Amino acid sequence: MIAPSLLSADFARLADEVQRIADADWVHVDVMDAHFVPNLTLGLPVVQAIQAVSPVPLDCHLMIEDPERWAPGYAEAGARNVTVHAEACTDPRAVARDLKAAGALAGLALKPGTPLEAYLDVLPEFDTLLVMTVEPGFGGQSFMPEVLPKVREARRLVEAGHLQLFLEVDGGINADTIEQAAEAGADVFVAGSAVYGADDPAQAIAALRAQAARAR
Ligand code: DX5
Ligand code: ZN
Repeated sequence: MIAPSLLSADFARLADEVQRIADADWVHVDVMDAHFVPNLTLGLPVVQAIQAVSPVPLDCHLMIEDPERWAPGYAEAGARNVTVHAEACTDPRAVARDLKAAGALAGLALKPGTPLEAYLDVLPEFDTLLVMTVEPGFGGQSFMPEVLPKVREARRLVEAGHLQLFLEVDGGINADTIEQAAEAGADVFVAGSAVYGADDPAQAIAALRAQAARAR
């Protein structure tokens, strides 16, 4: 699946920007609170407005503190998938249950330096594992291939039947990097600058999807 990130879209024209990626699988919405990460983007009222006009299901990536308090609102707004950061959760299992009770898929995100092993016991509660391939906070950064062993290990656990998860990668995904991520086992690819920076976003989505499918 290809999930273009609205972080690289024109924030003054979000309704048009979601139409430009109508053939994407999910639209990735980066919610940042200027506390968990040193950047501030948008919150629930804007997500509700996007949800009302988007032809594509929303994938909300919450880079915020206190996700226990805020995450369920994004699920109630109708997001398909809501991902919280492991580093910000005091009780990841409870967040997953609340998200699923509100009708969304539940995602757990790991920063590049956060080990998978620390969260193996809670991952059965989740539907999505988001492996950050840059430090969260900004679009347009360089892909970190050193994170891929974490994707490989998660794919191994899924193949062995120990976990059932979408494996999402986020950060620096483009035509030069998507194949390595797909080979490692990712199946959801977030791409901000590679899609919205292209002359033709629809064509960029199709090209990335074909590259990932070939590499898997
Ligand atoms: C970074 C965000 C990403 C960002 C990716 O903190 O989580 O979703 O939009 O942007 P690119 O694809 O440009 O690296
Ligand atoms: Zn993101």
